[in-house]
Amino acid sequence: MTTALITGASSGIGTVYARRLAARSHDLVLVARATDRLNKLAEELRTAHDVTIEVITADLTDTAQLNLVAERLRADPPIDILVNNAGAGLSGGFANANPVALENLLRLNSLAPTLLTAAVLGGMLKRGHGSIVNIASALAILPEYADGIYAATKSYVLTMSQSLNAEVGQQGIYVQAVLPAATRTEIYERSGGDISKVPDVMEVDDLVDAALIGFDRKELVTLPPVPEEADWNAFEQARMVLARGFMNAKPAERYRS
Ligand SMILES: NC(=O)c1ccc[n+]([C@@H]2O[C@H](COP(=O)([O-])OP(=O)(O)OC[C@H]3O[C@@H](n4cnc5c(N)ncnc54)[C@H](OP(=O)(O)O)[C@@H]3O)[C@@H](O)[C@H]2O)c1
Repeated sequence: MTTALITGASSGIGTVYARRLAARSHDLVLVARATDRLNKLAEELRTAHDVTIEVITADLTDTAQLNLVAERLRADPPIDILVNNAGAGLSGGFANANPVALENLLRLNSLAPTLLTAAVLGGMLKRGHGSIVNIASALAILPEYADGIYAATKSYVLTMSQSLNAEVGQQGIYVQAVLPAATRTEIYERSGGDISKVPDVMEVDDLVDAALIGFDRKELVTLPPVPEEADWNAFEQARMVLARGFMNAKPAERYRS
């Protein structure tokens, strides 16, 4: 038996991950703030799949509560799969931004996955295996499509996943960044948006099922709605062309006069 810890399991993408991973016979640790919703889901999954489910109520923007989750990630039974999924949006741009709201978004979307990954990684490396799934966003590579810092928090998650893969991908650790585009969950209403105004919304079951196919194929980056895998490969190749360009000790000719 293996155990998966899912943050943000009380609704949307996290709830579907919990259902799918329980159906694959993983024991689960469910994390979010809404204890009632987590307990209800835990009961549903114990009954349906005969798996062990722990519930941790935690606000991941709070350092002490985040540390509780990090402690569980270092404890036994060991966590084999960490799904860094909890996240939120923030309406409004920079101009009227509330600094506390900005800080909390960074804590939830970027700091929490960082510290939870750091907490689980040592044990995974000792055991020689483990999977870390990070739910980023299509906005990670399309920042012009959103106001404020949401896209930046998600490009951080993508870059963190790529860095982590470069560091430990050859040591038995599988890292996946999932980049959903618009998906039907509570995230829009929670951040003051209206999902009925969003075109081309994917159903959440479809999103997670596609992400799990990417997981089974050990993709580093999974882009469920993008029709052609070759488009991502071309994007990566363009990045490597730039990488060659950075390997110059002198400024480029156009910056010399
Ligand atoms: N839906 C989309 O269109 C879309 C697109 C791209 C990326 N994503 C990403 O997908 C992930 C899941 O979002 P979703 O769409 O499933 O939205 P959702 O239905 O609103 O779910 C968000 C989850 O995060 C938890 N959460 C929020 N604030 C938290 C906090 N302070 N501490 C702990 N948990 C917290 C929520 O639980 P509690 O309220 O119980 O704490 C909930 O379980 C997010 O990282 C989001 O950025 C979503």
